[in-house]
Amino acid sequence: MTDAGTTLPTPAQAPAGSPVPGSAARTTKLAIVGAGAVGSTLAYAALMRGAARTVAMLDVNRAKVEAEVLDLQHGIQFMPMAKVEGSDDVAVCAGADVVVVTAGAKQKQGQTRLDLAEGTIGLMRSILPGLVEVAPDAVYVMVTNPVDIVTYAALKFSGLPPERLFGSGTVLDSSRLRFLVAQHCGVAVQNVHAYIAGEHGDSEIPLWSSATIGGVPLLDWPGIAGHPPLSEDAREEIAHEVVHSAYRIIEGKGATNYAVGLAGTRIIEAVLGDEHRLLPVSTLLDGDYGIDDVCLSLPTLIDRRGASERVEVPLSDAELTGLRSSAESLRAVARRFGL
Ligand SMILES: NC(=O)c1ccc[n+]([C@@H]2O[C@H](COP(=O)([O-])OP(=O)(O)OC[C@H]3O[C@@H](n4cnc5c(N)ncnc54)[C@H](O)[C@@H]3O)[C@@H](O)[C@H]2O)c1
Repeated sequence: MTDAGTTLPTPAQAPAGSPVPGSAARTTKLAIVGAGAVGSTLAYAALMRGAARTVAMLDVNRAKVEAEVLDLQHGIQFMPMAKVEGSDDVAVCAGADVVVVTAGAKQKQGQTRLDLAEGTIGLMRSILPGLVEVAPDAVYVMVTNPVDIVTYAALKFSGLPPERLFGSGTVLDSSRLRFLVAQHCGVAVQNVHAYIAGEHGDSEIPLWSSATIGGVPLLDWPGIAGHPPLSEDAREEIAHEVVHSAYRIIEGKGATNYAVGLAGTRIIEAVLGDEHRLLPVSTLLDGDYGIDDVCLSLPTLIDRRGASERVEVPLSDAELTGLRSSAESLRAVARRFGL
């Protein structure tokens, strides 16, 4: 890993504990590939949360990346100290600790994530070797859709070990699930622990049997303060809404950006902060639940090494069947595109 934050703050700008000019203290660097709706919002979220000292953006559209960077630079005074840079040259990503890939065509109205597969697989084949050359030690987080297929392809094209390249998976879907459960039950979203597993897409499965609210198994939740318990119908409605809400957002404003930007930032913080945080990211399965050679999401330990270990959550029979059929449908898509 190299010394990433090359421009140091002046003494007047530098907060306590930050490197002073002339010191060789190492700082963290986040590279974001794709300065579109997702990449730019992710940059903003990461900067606002002080996730990395340097944020570098790469996009083939030079005018766009320069404009996004300039706009972000003008806001640095109001953020935790950071440096933002951008270019259409991959060298801007040199020495990054984390590389987040958001480059690719966005879903259009009526398109599923899998409709994007062919174009994005080709894109990964062309951009990954150059990225790995300039940032060989980074942890890579794929966000581009269809994220599970893109992650599987990116592992092949990059040659990186599976713990160092994974997809944002169902971190976003799980936060949508938690929001809807919290709303239904009248509790804070932070009290809900529940994961979506499988594909980031139509075949994903909510893991109801292991979900809890404030330590109470969700399936035993009694209901409080005028909010009914989660009946089977209510759970089905919520699961449907989780899968379809992205389509609704795209219909209304053309892209989803805020929640995915925050979800991506959460993953980056878990890596850079060596947090040992369990997040449902998409990794290459290796016999888990009898499934292998496919990337999909399961709760996984995220730390400075990357996606270091998956956790075998107890599954109901229906959840296990759902997970296996999600794996089958992802594997069929990968094969269709020659992966
Ligand atoms: N995984 C998730 O949870 C999740 C959520 C939302 C969106 N997404 C996905 O993120 C991706 C980006 O969405 P968006 O709304 O930001 O799209 P967008 O069209 O706004 O931005 C994509 C950017 O990628 C750039 N790009 C294209 N080829 C490039 C290359 N070779 N190198 C560098 N940059 C390149 C484009 O110029 C553009 O600026 C899509 O695939 C979308 O489906 C994923």
